Amino acid sequence: MAKTVRFHEIGGPEVLRLEDVEPGEPGTGEVLLRVDAIGINRAEVLFRSGQYIEEPRLPARLGAEAAGIVEAAGPGVSGFDVGDHVSVLPAFSQNDYGVYAERAVVPAAALLHRPDGVDAVTGAAVWMPYLTAYGAMVEVGGIRPGDTAVINAASSSVGLAAIHTANRLGATPIAVTRTEAKKQRLLDEGAAEVVVSDDQDVTAVILELTGGKGTEYVFDAVAGPGVVDLARAVAADGTLFLWGAQSGQPTPFPGFELGMPALNMRTYTVHEITRSPERLRRASAFVTSGLRTGAFRAVVDTVFPLDEIALAHKHMESNTQVGKIVVTTREL
Ligand SMILES: NC(=O)c1ccc[n+]([C@@H]2O[C@H](COP(=O)([O-])OP(=O)(O)OC[C@H]3O[C@@H](n4cnc5c(N)ncnc54)[C@H](OP(=O)(O)O)[C@@H]3O)[C@@H](O)[C@H]2O)c1
Repeated sequence: MAKTVRFHEIGGPEVLRLEDVEPGEPGTGEVLLRVDAIGINRAEVLFRSGQYIEEPRLPARLGAEAAGIVEAAGPGVSGFDVGDHVSVLPAFSQNDYGVYAERAVVPAAALLHRPDGVDAVTGAAVWMPYLTAYGAMVEVGGIRPGDTAVINAASSSVGLAAIHTANRLGATPIAVTRTEAKKQRLLDEGAAEVVVSDDQDVTAVILELTGGKGTEYVFDAVAGPGVVDLARAVAADGTLFLWGAQSGQPTPFPGFELGMPALNMRTYTVHEITRSPERLRRASAFVTSGLRTGAFRAVVDTVFPLDEIALAHKHMESNTQVGKIVVTTREL
């Protein structure tokens, strides 16, 4: 048996229950993992509250990002042995697997070896943010040195990874946050400029910062009506990536209202990277090299024990965090 987080109804953090569940034997292409640390993601909060792109099948498990040790490997698994230190990447549906548990079966295709010197908390905190940022910016977006990247919800774990990634690529990250509270922290994390959207005219500031040309890229985790202001600040042929929907409101495509500019708007998920072995190979090399040089690192806001999982979700919903919330299953 393994302590496992499940929910039997859709709702707030209080629906999360810690239950004794038999993790089962790993099947073909699967491994059984001792989970040491779990990266908490907005997608799980949305899944639990019925607002994710996928409906939970109840009773539902949760979690797609973790670090741990392989306890058993099923038939057909190669490259991973018992005792290996690994990270679990978000490469599967939470209806199929969930890592909010002391032990869990996961697909071997979602594993990476944890590089030497990367501890469990870091190993559970870096992959979702950096793979998401790398995939949109490099694999799909083709960002180049000298380009500008406007990053909304910049204090999120993905937003911070996008700031670090833009800097590593020689692009200029402009961070957007709602209030002054996180402004200095975003500058400290490498933002070239910070726009405070509650107080400033986002379009005007971006246009001013880019000499009137507009930004080549926007990476937006908020969506909703605010995309109109962001779209106005996109340079001709530039691209507005929608990688999250924090606003919870319908998102217009404002091309006609803005006079039919050469505006690309595109949704994107990290699965475009984690479900493609070739892209994942390049992405993991990029992130590993950033971790090795210190350009990339886990920005961990708070670590909670597994039995405080509801508090961890509440903390995420408070939106006061900067960076990643991590849960540990044991004393590390
Ligand atoms: N497409 C993908 O594959 C993918 C992968 C990972 C994450 N994501 C998305 O990226 C976003 C960040 O996820 P995360 O887990 O890193 O971070 P997170 O910790 O959930 O991000 C929280 C931050 O988002 C901002 N925010 C929250 N609600 C907002 C609202 N209504 N309007 C404007 N800003 C709001 C706040 O920043 P301020 O207070 O500074 O404004 C808040 O601190 C989420 O939308 C998530 O779904 C997408």
